[in-house]
Amino acid sequence: MDKLVIDGGVPLAGEVRISGAKNAALPLMCAALLTDEPLRLENVPQLRDVSTMLRLLGQMGVAVSLDERAGVEMRADAIASPVASYDLVKTMRASILVLGPLLARCGEARVSLPGGCAIGLRPVDLHIKGLEAMGAQISVEEGYIVARSGRLKGARIVMDLVTVTGTENLMMAACLAEGTTVLENAAREPEVLDLARCLAAMGARISGAGSDIITIDGAARLSGARHRIMPDRIETGTYLVAAAATGGRVRLLGADAMLLDAVLEKLRESGARIDAEGDAISLEMGGRPKSVSVRTAPYPAFPTDMQAQFMALNAIAEGAAVITETIFENRFMHALEMQRLGADIEISGNTAVVRGVPRLQGATVMATDLRASASLVIAGLAAEGRTTVDRIYHLDRGYECIEEKLARLGARIRRAH
Ligand code: UD1
Repeated sequence: MDKLVIDGGVPLAGEVRISGAKNAALPLMCAALLTDEPLRLENVPQLRDVSTMLRLLGQMGVAVSLDERAGVEMRADAIASPVASYDLVKTMRASILVLGPLLARCGEARVSLPGGCAIGLRPVDLHIKGLEAMGAQISVEEGYIVARSGRLKGARIVMDLVTVTGTENLMMAACLAEGTTVLENAAREPEVLDLARCLAAMGARISGAGSDIITIDGAARLSGARHRIMPDRIETGTYLVAAAATGGRVRLLGADAMLLDAVLEKLRESGARIDAEGDAISLEMGGRPKSVSVRTAPYPAFPTDMQAQFMALNAIAEGAAVITETIFENRFMHALEMQRLGADIEISGNTAVVRGVPRLQGATVMATDLRASASLVIAGLAAEGRTTVDRIYHLDRGYECIEEKLARLGARIRRAH
């Protein structure tokens, strides 16, 4: 199993380019199921989750072609089998995003029920309730969500809580429904807006995406389109925190500062100087960061996908911080591993109190999920001595060429088997 070996203590310095957003790419690829014409995506990151999604679509009969310029063209001319098998769904929960498009296009779908995962329960009841409100009959048989419907019907759907992939699934399904769908308490994440833009280019009539009420007037069919995927705001935030934690100075290209208000605000509070100009974001941290408390909540508030990285920053910061996780109930697994590097963290329920120590000491730590692994890499970059991050496959799900990019910033990092 691959590991990352990091000799820490080097301030990051230099420039790297940010990739396309994983969490935008995955739903956008599923949008290809809504039309028999080609959908071409650009700025597609090369990630394990992206190849898993391509495999999943391939199994359904979608023709896929890739080019060297981060382009992917998908054509769901005919959908041979509207099934997402357990083997693939268990490796990637976002596979649930095929459910809405399959049902809308084929009138049937069989999608393995995603099980538990490292960061909590994460049910999909709201996806199912929404599709039922649009007229689908849904049951669970042998571990699979089995959904059937005639043409879906537009409905007013008020979601109990804000769900990102739930909003995306229902928005895609509604594009081919008869009549108007109104999604209330919809997720406002920028990835939802990116998907809506692509769907609009495919001929969908959507208004309000990016706000908490999205209205979709269904169409009989959608056409092909070409769409460039937005920059990955979580990858951007991760490199900024890595630079801040090591007292470095970096410039990130191909990024979008507008998507990162809450994160940039916290980095400034920790003492970083940040400048954004065009598609570049620069950060400079002189000296030891100051601790910053964060509370995760749906966009535009502070993202849960940046919580672990800020725990690493706080671990070496001056002062004490309180981290409150309100989205996922079990998302502090990285804290125990960070303690192995000498961090002082106390967990009680969904709150962690982090008392910064002057320095961490390298050790072997184990990654438990994607963002947890990123936080351990950051802690390792800031630590003295050698840190080995085990089970790096979690990291490969969401960070394109991470060791190359970090090495370009001067980190002493290599992959080992
Ligand atoms: C997406 C992101 C993930 C991010 C998360 C929260 C993708 C591919 N993944 O995940 O990186 O961490 O948003 O920003 O975009 N919930 C229910 N019932 C449902 C659906 C969700 O109870 O039917 C709960 C979840 O358990 C969780 C909360 O709602 O507590 C938010 O989850 P959700 O926004 O759905 O996360 P994902 O879309 O899976």
